[in-house]
Amino acid sequence: MNITFLGHASLLIETNGKRIIVDPFITANPLAAEKISLQNLKVDYFLITHAHQDHVLDVSAIHELNPDAIIISNFEIVTYFANYGINGHGMNHGGSWFFDFGKITMVNAWHSSSFADGTYGGNPAGYVLESEEKSIYIAGDTGLTMDMKIIPLFTKLDLAILPIGDNFTMGIDSAVVASDYVDCQNVMGYHFDTFELIKIDHEKAKKTFKKAGKDFILPEIGEKITL
Ligand code: NI
Ligand code: MN
Repeated sequence: MNITFLGHASLLIETNGKRIIVDPFITANPLAAEKISLQNLKVDYFLITHAHQDHVLDVSAIHELNPDAIIISNFEIVTYFANYGINGHGMNHGGSWFFDFGKITMVNAWHSSSFADGTYGGNPAGYVLESEEKSIYIAGDTGLTMDMKIIPLFTKLDLAILPIGDNFTMGIDSAVVASDYVDCQNVMGYHFDTFELIKIDHEKAKKTFKKAGKDFILPEIGEKITL
């Protein structure tokens, strides 16, 4: 499984020969816009955690370039994009489905979810992705929540992708606890540095995870991680 960090909370996951883009927010991210070209993104699926602009902005533009791509998200978000001619697979919390790249389970995130135009975006989510290769948890935007303790019931994780930017989501100290709750040794941080309010001290973040005995990845934009 390859995971490329596209900036903010955007990821490109390659597994089982399929390409899944998570929460695309690239063209309006000043840190990513120069480094990541939408034209170069080949995508089979969108996996969307919630409706906030910093998670859905580039769905339509990427879909225009990849018209067969299918959006996986909650029912409300899938319905919203269906109005723009994007095919989707709606889910809700606690449900799992087997796709051709692997199994997705939609899990709770403690946050909010509305579109920029005010449309209700359903409840925010995280996802557990289990392919034949690896199992990962994509937390989405969330605070630390006791619900994370049920994640190990689904699978043994190879990687937990957790927000660490604070203010809108949990910060680094809570993310360390979250990695214990989901019972995962390997953590990748995301949702940091994009905006003034979520700028983090990189060295402090690394030290905090090291002290907790965790293997921590603080990815560069464009960096590809192979599990
Ligand atoms: Ni959000
Ligand atoms: Mn966000």
